[in-house]
Amino acid sequence: MKIFALLFFLFTASNAFATNILVINSSLNSEKDSFTKRAVNQIIEKIKAKENNVNISIRDLAKNPIPHLTSEEIAAFYTPKDKHDKKIKNKIKLSDDLILQLNSSDIAIIASPMINFSVPSSLKAYIDHIVRAGVTFKYENGKPVGLLNTKKVIVVTSSGGIYSENNDMKLMNHNDSYLKTVFSFLGVKNIEVIAIEGVIHDGDKALKNAVDKFNYQK
Ligand SMILES: Cc1cc2nc3c(=O)[nH]c(=O)nc-3n(C[C@H](O)[C@H](O)[C@H](O)COP(=O)(O)O)c2cc1C
Repeated sequence: MKIFALLFFLFTASNAFATNILVINSSLNSEKDSFTKRAVNQIIEKIKAKENNVNISIRDLAKNPIPHLTSEEIAAFYTPKDKHDKKIKNKIKLSDDLILQLNSSDIAIIASPMINFSVPSSLKAYIDHIVRAGVTFKYENGKPVGLLNTKKVIVVTSSGGIYSENNDMKLMNHNDSYLKTVFSFLGVKNIEVIAIEGVIHDGDKALKNAVDKFNYQK
């Protein structure tokens, strides 16, 4: 029994000192064919090169989609805590679980292929579950205050076209700009964007250029 207690203690202690990375993937493509997934894997390798102890959790929104919010869930979100019965707890469980997982991460890597100028709808459904009044943000004196613990968010985008090089194209990009708004609203100060642009021209080169710019600092 003592040996199990010791092993449990060692496991918990090693996790407490590890850098916890949460990856949110949303590409419909396979690990081999997706530019965002390939970039995420290379980014993780770069982080691992500088961190001794890394814990990685991966949530694939294409394989395991988060359902759209329902009116019952929204009503449950706004029910005061002292009125939480079994039914209400059940309605907020998914959102609570997603927020707990995100809040436990030191670094969240959000992979967002551009779909029709914005984020994939699977990622939008995820965001709708984690942006919660009183839990991940609140208002104080009319100003928003983010409550998320995550220290760093790395947004990995991929797009067929190139959006960063002229102003008309920039206006059409609602992908990383939207994600920066969301995570900064939730209180994350350190947000870095790795943009793989123009994959219809030379995807491998675009991937290399984007990942080369990522220089992980502890
Ligand atoms: C349904 C769909 C819509 C897309 N919309 C856009 C778009 O609006 N702008 C763009 O530049 N690329 C668009 N693309 C291209 C993807 O962003 C690009 O192929 C990206 O690399 C996909 O991510 P992945 O390689 O990680 O799977 C679209 C692709 C699909 C399948």
